[in-house]
Amino acid sequence: MKIVVANKSHSKYATIICETMAESAKVRGTGIAKRTPEYVITKMENSNAVIALEGDKFAGFCYIEVWSHEKFVANSGLIVHPDYRNMGLAKRIKKEIFNLSREKFPKAKIFGITTGLAVMKINYELGYKPVTFSELTDDPTFWKGCQTCKNYDILQRTEQKMCLCTGMLYDSEIKKTKKNKQASHDHSYDKKVLQRLKNIKQHLFLPKEKEHKK
Ligand SMILES: CC(C)(COP(=O)(O)OP(=O)(O)OC[C@H]1O[C@@H](n2cnc3c(N)ncnc32)[C@H](O)[C@@H]1OP(=O)(O)O)[C@@H](O)C(=O)NCCC(=O)NCCS
Repeated sequence: MKIVVANKSHSKYATIICETMAESAKVRGTGIAKRTPEYVITKMENSNAVIALEGDKFAGFCYIEVWSHEKFVANSGLIVHPDYRNMGLAKRIKKEIFNLSREKFPKAKIFGITTGLAVMKINYELGYKPVTFSELTDDPTFWKGCQTCKNYDILQRTEQKMCLCTGMLYDSEIKKTKKNKQASHDHSYDKKVLQRLKNIKQHLFLPKEKEHKK
């Protein structure tokens, strides 16, 4: 398996990447911001994406979005093809895109919003912390991306304060003082807590029949 920074030569994978994303969202029954092949190709051309390939077979992908004049970047669109799941590939891809983000945008805060427990776990291990949406970019174009998510009505109802997704932020400026190190140790990843948070949000925000499908 090779994981590389994507370029123009990987454009031929844009369609399968978008199809895999859409298909996975359908299977999970959760919302997702829709991406087009053209958008994915732009990310590849600008060296703002990472692709995993086994031979010439598509295995995984993730890209960088830049917001608020490079004050924030998001690592978005993480997808691992079903044939390559549960082998630690998402973890490797996230690490690559995280390193690429820090290299290209060293001053930016890195953030993501997700409902996925796997992604939350990976983010925790990279040093992200859960935060309220108010700590993330207020760039309207970022939040506009949520319009294609089937849970967008929740975000509107809460005036963009919360949704089923959890916001997570990596802030490179936070000094690693002894106190901070201790605090981050005290709040390490706890699957049960995050699963419970997810259940509570679904109970609060989703209509009863949708909640039972989750
Ligand atoms: C979520 C996804 C990217 C995970 O890819 P993957 O390559 O199977 O993940 P990894 O093997 O690297 O697993 C990383 C960690 O998450 C855990 N994990 C994986 N899938 C999980 C799940 N569905 N629920 C909870 N934890 C999960 C793994 O056990 C692993 O933890 P470990 O370090 O304790 O072993 C993949 O399932 C996928 O593409 N899903 C559809 C798209 C999606 O949900 N994208 C995220 C949108 S924000």
